[in-house]
Amino acid sequence: MENFTFCSPTYFAFGDGQERQTGALVRRFGGTRVLLVYGGGSVRRNGAYDDAVSALRQADIPFWELSGVQPNPRSGKVYEGIDLCRREGVDFLLAVGGGSAIDTAKAIAVGVPYDGDFWDLYSGRAAEKSLPVGVVLTLAATGSEASDSSVITHEEGNRKWGNTKSDVYRPVFAVMNPHYTCTLPPYQTACGAADMLSHILERYFTPTDHVDVTDRLCEGLMQSILAAAPQALAHPDDYHARAELMWAGMLAHNNLCGVGRKQDWACHQMEHELSALCGCAHGAGLAALTPAWMTYVMDRDVTRFAQFAVRVFGCPMDFRHPEVTAREGIARLTAWLRSIGMPVTLGELGFPAEDIPAAVAHRRLKPNPFPFGTFAAIGPEDMEAILRLAAEPR
Ligand code: NZQ
Ligand code: ZN
Repeated sequence: MENFTFCSPTYFAFGDGQERQTGALVRRFGGTRVLLVYGGGSVRRNGAYDDAVSALRQADIPFWELSGVQPNPRSGKVYEGIDLCRREGVDFLLAVGGGSAIDTAKAIAVGVPYDGDFWDLYSGRAAEKSLPVGVVLTLAATGSEASDSSVITHEEGNRKWGNTKSDVYRPVFAVMNPHYTCTLPPYQTACGAADMLSHILERYFTPTDHVDVTDRLCEGLMQSILAAAPQALAHPDDYHARAELMWAGMLAHNNLCGVGRKQDWACHQMEHELSALCGCAHGAGLAALTPAWMTYVMDRDVTRFAQFAVRVFGCPMDFRHPEVTAREGIARLTAWLRSIGMPVTLGELGFPAEDIPAAVAHRRLKPNPFPFGTFAAIGPEDMEAILRLAAEPR
């Protein structure tokens, strides 16, 4: 195990009715003038917006609104939000929605006190300060409600880049009422499950030895997601299945499962190029890539892949031929993703194979584009080969 520091300062108010605390929580964390950030209208339809507004009114907290945040959120809304906050003296961001609303609120929050273009903070520079961000979560997926990350697409060149990771980005509180997620369409529910699973896999496939505690946390969490997602899809109003997914999404990405080990993140790096170019949902892009990445890198540590197959999917261990067990684990994961309605090839995702070179070239816009990944270092030829593998029928 490697040395680590771990700070997860977010205060969680989890469960039915907890949204009534929102006003008091804003006050507790210093908010006196709030910017409410949300997306294209789902939160108005499922009551989350009305609940947040009435909680703010009851606490007598003035607020302004920034609506219309798109999935794969764009820089235009961030600039708009920074201007609005500076003009109105806003001192607190409240995101109501999923990862896109939260990531936009985070970008605004670091942008307001920064003396320069907020995009610097997504191009390699570390943020030193942030306005506090609170979250009312309506989609179990990204874990942004407690993560140190935010991902924004800059309109110029469609560059979908993440911030320089820092605890400054972690929200001060997250209100998590699983009922809000009952209105999610099946596809978004499945995308969320695929994303949280990927957040665990990116940590699980590591070159670091002696990480049994976090291995077991990862394995248990993955099994819970594998069980809860089909339940939520079969019964969208099943509060308990929604609750399991909501808490799993947070645990998958606040880094509890990732401490003390090198993390990979190759699938996420490649997926961001796909969603930048084709606008796909992040979780669907990950589902289409992950089986191909696994197949491509499996030989680096067949034992770890066999461990995944045995412990997560209950595959029998073939001691003479561990690669058979390893491949069985990949096949089971692929079948599971397909069973919840996720694409498992680029074709199913709607990403044309002829655009693969463009995805590799687009990656080169980033500072230090290659290599990425720690389980296996991925150079441009590897990225192209993995995408080609992902384009094959499976
Ligand atoms: O825009 P509205 O109308 O609100 O609709 C949204 C949107 O269309 C809808 N939705 C949200 N809650 C709903 C609902 N529909 C019905 N009922 C509800 N309760 O769902 C759609 C997708 O929302 P979005 O916020 O875009 O999804 P998600 O939470 O998956 O966020 C994806 C973004 O987060 C980034 C992704 O790359 C992507 O840009 N990520 C952020 C991370 C982080 N900050 O830590 C980590 C992730 O790896 C990821 O990269
Ligand atoms: Zn993700």
